[in-house]
Amino acid sequence: MPKSRIKYICSNCGYESLRWIGKCPECESWNAFVEELVETGKKKQTAGKNIVPLSRINEIFAAEEERIQTQIEEFDRVLGGGLMPGSVILLGGDPGIGKSTLAMQACANLKTPVLYVSGEESAKQIKLRAERLRITSDEFFVLPETDLTAILDSINKISPSLVVIDSIQTIAMSELDNSPGTMTQIRECTVTLMEEAKKKHFCVIVIGHVTKEGFIAGPKILEHIVDTVIQFEGEHHHSFRILRAQKNRFGSTNEIGVFEMHENGLQEVRNPSKLFLSERERKTSGSIVTSSMEGTRPILLEVQALVTPSNFGNPQRVATGFDYRRLAILLAVIEKRAGLRLSANNVFLNMAGGIKITEPAIDLAVCCSIASSLLDKEIDGDTIVVGEVGLGGEVRSVSQIEKRIQEAEKLGFSTILIPSYNNASLKDSAIKIIPIDNLNSAISYLMS
Ligand SMILES: Nc1ncnc2c1ncn2[C@@H]1O[C@H](COP(=O)(O)OP(=O)(O)OP(=O)(O)O)[C@@H](O)[C@H]1O
Ligand SMILES: [Mg+2]
Repeated sequence: MPKSRIKYICSNCGYESLRWIGKCPECESWNAFVEELVETGKKKQTAGKNIVPLSRINEIFAAEEERIQTQIEEFDRVLGGGLMPGSVILLGGDPGIGKSTLAMQACANLKTPVLYVSGEESAKQIKLRAERLRITSDEFFVLPETDLTAILDSINKISPSLVVIDSIQTIAMSELDNSPGTMTQIRECTVTLMEEAKKKHFCVIVIGHVTKEGFIAGPKILEHIVDTVIQFEGEHHHSFRILRAQKNRFGSTNEIGVFEMHENGLQEVRNPSKLFLSERERKTSGSIVTSSMEGTRPILLEVQALVTPSNFGNPQRVATGFDYRRLAILLAVIEKRAGLRLSANNVFLNMAGGIKITEPAIDLAVCCSIASSLLDKEIDGDTIVVGEVGLGGEVRSVSQIEKRIQEAEKLGFSTILIPSYNNASLKDSAIKIIPIDNLNSAISYLMS
């Protein structure tokens, strides 16, 4: 008879403790420990049961497995070229962002059976969404269920190529005494599904809820277990959504997928630059267009800065979609190298459209937009600026300059400011290329 006792588990990172602690020693989050029932004395008898023969790596035959194409190009690209059979994907995102919609659309075009397990919605509610998304596939099976054993039975019955679990917080193993959504349930259910998936070569998309603080329960510890973690992001007041891979055992994590939420579901945005530049106000100071590489694609976007005098002791610095610490560094570079005083001004920076950019190639655009707002001088709306800014005010080279130039040309821009180091290897193009050495020369070119 297995005994049970109580343990405390950090809902952020899964750290276990015998007593409750306020601050997790592992991930340093506060009030994250939750009480969980743990069975002791029940050893898993796995040793000696499934003995896999030892083999040399040269003797293993592994042909590149054919990936399953969902025919949603933006989704397939983020996954690294489609769904890898036998893999488990964790799809996380804020409540109501469109996770169920994306997962259902991913199932819609497959020619093989797919199983959509929902612990949150009834079959009728799923049908209503399917009608709205115009899903007509005959291979789409729906299972409103929360018990893992029943889910595994259905998997055995229809041998699906894709299983969606919506959401992992709602399903449970009846053998465990813990309630659904607890750390133990989430971890055990995922591990069991993962073992089945690897054995039977189907793919699993596990949906996990994420709150503004990070998560409700579980997703963080799942990140280590699953093969791929993708995050669905977006602002609720904007219709576009961005899909980003945070971890991918079978592909790059640089790619992003851009979608727009419509009444009849998510639509792919094939040309994100057009979308991000669509509401641009050309005749204002502080606005400038730049180019950021998101995976293999260049995306053009507008950087906006607003510099206002500060009436209080501490001027404000607010950055949306850009790293706050990087902004602080660039402000210091502008003050020291370009001689523009910003210490008595508030600086607000915004990546228009709500996109988040981490690439340093937009540094020069950030600096120029701040200078433009401070000096109240408009920058020509047909000019693009790219370059990383060093602490000495020098403009450093960026990667894949040809692709950025091509994209700028395609969208009808007339001039591009690029780092001088990138200029040497360039062929002639229709767009006017201005090589730039340092921040000062960029500011004087754009604002003189
Ligand atoms: N009739 C509709 N017209 C337009 N958009 C809609 C409509 N119904 C739903 N939506 C959009 O779909 C979103 C909900 O999508 P979905 O249910 O897939 O999100 P979710 O991430 O699964 O949510 P949850 O966290 O509740 O499971 C809504 O926030 C809304 O933007
Ligand atoms: Mg949902």
